[in-house]
Amino acid sequence: MCPPDYFGIEYEINPWMHKDVNADYVTARQQWRDLKELLERVGAQIELMEPVKGLPDLVFTANAALIWQDQAYLSRFRHGPRQGETPVDDQWFRSHDFDTQLPPEHLNFEGAGDALFCGETLFGGYIVRSDAGAIQWLGSELHCRVIPLQLVDERYYHLDTCFCPLSPTEAIWYPPAFDEYGQLAIESAVPTLSKVSDEEATRFACNAVVVGKHVVMNTGCPKLEVALQQLDYETHATPLDEFLKSGGSAKCLTLRLDGEEAAVWR
Ligand code: ARG
Repeated sequence: MCPPDYFGIEYEINPWMHKDVNADYVTARQQWRDLKELLERVGAQIELMEPVKGLPDLVFTANAALIWQDQAYLSRFRHGPRQGETPVDDQWFRSHDFDTQLPPEHLNFEGAGDALFCGETLFGGYIVRSDAGAIQWLGSELHCRVIPLQLVDERYYHLDTCFCPLSPTEAIWYPPAFDEYGQLAIESAVPTLSKVSDEEATRFACNAVVVGKHVVMNTGCPKLEVALQQLDYETHATPLDEFLKSGGSAKCLTLRLDGEEAAVWR
């Protein structure tokens, strides 16, 4: 995680961001700290990254890279204002015993925001931020099956805003964020799917962090909490509204370094 010292809404690169609706610094800090403490309470060990002035979205560490074993597949951000994050991420990973690799030059890719393992398969969101070719490139690097999913609703511009693997066979999703083909692909690959409502999708219900049988998410997603409890998960809600102003929530604010709960390779 990266503390939100320089977090703010300084540009608009998704429909949630409005420069005239800036985040409240004090509240954002509090919400970030509460999230960190909650994650620690459910068993996570948190490594920190030093915030950098002028990089307000560095807090969204999910976008730093896709992690696979000791490899960090770095992002090549679509939008200029975030491109300065990559050298900072690269440096962090190298000094923490990861090997780093950049996607081929002509391909955009936004890390774990758009690439999530569920079982043996890597699901990749494309077109809004990452390119489909970047997902193919990862498949050939990792020798794994990839399912590229076109994202069709600009509000759900990263895969982790509309799809959240819980275990190798279970995931949370918001079907309208995908085209019909993508919906069929997810339905045939993931046996147990928990659908979120329109309203809870706008509360970033799908942007949850899974730690064992604990699921940490933004407040305002009561229906999803009930559905997850029926699947034997313990749910925890914590307010993250200041980060929603930037189009991010719990999951975006974290990057799992030891492999996602749902990834078979861990
Ligand atoms: N303001 C950031 C952006 O638009 C938010 C990133 C959220 N991260 C995520 N993994 N969905 O790029």
